[in-house]
Amino acid sequence: MSEEFGEIAEYERGDAAVRDGIAEEDNAIPLWFNVGFYGLIVFGIVYAIYYTMSGWSSAGEYQAQVAAAEARAAEVRASMPTTNPFRGDQVALTEGQTTFTTVCAACHKPDGSGLVGPSLVDPYWKYGETDEALFETVSAGRPGGMPGWEAQLGSEKIWKVLAYMETLPRSDEPGVGAPGVGGAGT
Ligand code: HEC
Repeated sequence: MSEEFGEIAEYERGDAAVRDGIAEEDNAIPLWFNVGFYGLIVFGIVYAIYYTMSGWSSAGEYQAQVAAAEARAAEVRASMPTTNPFRGDQVALTEGQTTFTTVCAACHKPDGSGLVGPSLVDPYWKYGETDEALFETVSAGRPGGMPGWEAQLGSEKIWKVLAYMETLPRSDEPGVGAPGVGGAGT
């Protein structure tokens, strides 16, 4: 049988035994095994030293990524206007009017006095009347049925439509949806 596979170096063992016709031999450990075995030990030591000395950690890497993302977000926030940049700009107001009549008027009426959505010309504001609050309302939407328009209009058109909205004749009459008056906004 063994001739078929060629000669394999075999050493005699003091405790050599034959059981069920199978002889136990003491063969030399193959080179590939030793290379892998000692190689892994060396790798383990080098890795452990590197890991403890270099200061690298997955938690640290995560924190660095979070810090980078926060810095980017702060940059974007800082570059966003907090007051309406189109107030009084005639070209922008015309564009804002077009947006208002095609998009907003369906729910707020062309004069802004309110229909499904609340009046935008009365002095009552559920979500605030600062430029920032109004921008947030229109770009992200509000839970009472006001859709968010950021994806469809983009920031610039939102600022323009808000600039136009301000020019609509004001009315002290609480409109549809003003607080405590009934309608969609209450
Ligand atoms: C599908 C109908 C609908 C359309 C279209 C719509 N709105 Fe509204 N809007 C609403 C409703 C309903 C509310 C009340 C939301 C609430 O109370 O949570 C609202 C609320 C608002 C408010 C907040 C009012 C307050 O008292 O704080 C503003 C400002 C506003 N809309 C502006 C706009 C503008 C500008 C557009 C066009 C880009 C627009 N809306 C388009 C339905 C609509």
